[in-house]
Amino acid sequence: MIEDILTIYGAKEGICNTYTLPGDKSIAHRALIIGGLPTGEYKVFNYPDSKDCAATLKVMINLGLEVNKVGQTLFVKSPGYAKFNNYVEELDCQNSGTAARLISGTLAALSIEGKLIGDSSLSKRPMGRVVTPLREMGANISSSKEGLPLIFSKNEGLMGIEYHMPVASAQVKSCVLIAGFLSKNTTTVWEKLFTRDHSERMLKYIGADIEVYGNKISIKNSKIEAKDIYVPGDISSAAFLISLALLGENNFIKIEKVSLNERRRKYLDILKEMGADANYTIEHIVNNEEIGTIEIKSSKLKGVIIEGEVVPYIIDEIPMLSVLAAFSEGKTIIKSVEELKYKESNRIEAIINNLYKCGVNSYFSSGDLIIEGGHNYFNEEISIESFDDHRIAMSFLGIAMRNSGKTIINGWSCSEISFPNAINYFKDFLRII
Ligand code: S3P
Repeated sequence: MIEDILTIYGAKEGICNTYTLPGDKSIAHRALIIGGLPTGEYKVFNYPDSKDCAATLKVMINLGLEVNKVGQTLFVKSPGYAKFNNYVEELDCQNSGTAARLISGTLAALSIEGKLIGDSSLSKRPMGRVVTPLREMGANISSSKEGLPLIFSKNEGLMGIEYHMPVASAQVKSCVLIAGFLSKNTTTVWEKLFTRDHSERMLKYIGADIEVYGNKISIKNSKIEAKDIYVPGDISSAAFLISLALLGENNFIKIEKVSLNERRRKYLDILKEMGADANYTIEHIVNNEEIGTIEIKSSKLKGVIIEGEVVPYIIDEIPMLSVLAAFSEGKTIIKSVEELKYKESNRIEAIINNLYKCGVNSYFSSGDLIIEGGHNYFNEEISIESFDDHRIAMSFLGIAMRNSGKTIINGWSCSEISFPNAINYFKDFLRII
C-alpha cells in the first residue's frame, strides 16, 4: 500500500542516470480500446500498471476481450467489435477521462446497453461534450446532469456526422472517430486547434479507412486487423523527472524508449525556450508512433509567454511548467488555459493555491495563468495538497527540489493513477523518507 503523505527533505545533487519509464497512458488506453476492435490475437508490450490503464483493461475485458497479463505484456484475444457483449451492467472508468470518453463512443456505436460510471472526480467532469455528438449520430444516452453515470440503451445504429469540435479535446475527437468508424457512413471531424493524434495513428495502424487533411479528419468503416502494439515510455511522466533534473545541481539524465509523438513533445521546445539544456533524438517509429531518447542537464531558466496552438499539446504539462516558472527569471504567462478547470481537479485553483503556500504569486486573469518567477531556494516547512490529482502531486515535487526544509505532499497516492512506482524514480532526486 502506497503512503498517502510524502515527506521530503531537500534534493540530491549530481544525478547521472538513464531511465526507461512505464508505458504512455494515452497510447496504452488506445492499445485496448482501438487495438481490441479487430477479431484476432495480438500482444501489447510495456502496458503500464497505472490505475487508469487498469480501469481500461477491466472495462475491455467486460466488453469481451480475453487478456492474459505476463509482466508488462498483455496477450489479447478479441472476438471482434461485432461480437462484443451487447449488455454490460456497469463499467467503471474510475478516474480516467480518456477511458470514459473513448468507451462512450464504443458503447454508443455498438448499441451496447449498460451504465458507465467513475469515481467522484470523474463524475464531476463534463460528459456533455461527448454525449452531444453521439446523440446527433443516433445514440440513446441518458444522464441526469450530462456527467457520469451515463446510461446507454439500444439504438437503431449510428449515422456518421460532420462534426466541428467546439473544444480542443483529443478525448472528444477520439470518441467521435471511434463511433464514426463503427457507424454506417463517413464521419468528418474538424479540429478548432490540433490535439494529440494517437487515435488517428492507432486507427490507421490497424487498417481503418482514415484520412487526415490538416484539421479535417474523415473516417469510415473498413476491414481491420489485430496487430502487436508497443507502448513507449510516457512522455508526460518523463516531464516530472525532467523538471527535477533541471531544478537540481549538476544533473545529467537520459530517458530512453520514450514516446516522442510530435504533438506530445512540444513542452520540450518550451523548456528550451526557457533556457533548458534539453535535447531529444527520434530513433524508431513503432505502431506509427515516434520513440527515442531525451537528454537533460541542470539549467538556469527564464520566464516565457506560452500561447496559441501549442497550448492543447502541453495541456498535461502546465502544472509542471508552472512550478518551473516560479524558479525562472521574470514572469511566465500561459494563455487560454480554461480547459485546465475540467481535469482531474480544477488545476488552475490547485496550481495557484499550492504556489501561494510557497510564497509564489500567481493568478488567473481572462483565461490566462500568470506566474511571477524569481524564486531561488526555500528553507521552510511547506505543505502541498494534491487535490487527488496525479499531475499536481508530481509537479509540486519541484518545490521540494529547491526547499532545504521539509516538504510534505498530502494525497500522494494518486500518483499511481498515471505513474506506477513513481517513488522508485523520484528517490534518485529527492531525500524522501
Ligand atoms: C488525453 C487527452 C487530454 C489529456 C488527457 C489524456 C488523451 O485530455 O489531458 O490526460 O489520452 O486523449 P483532453 O483531450 O480532454 O484535453
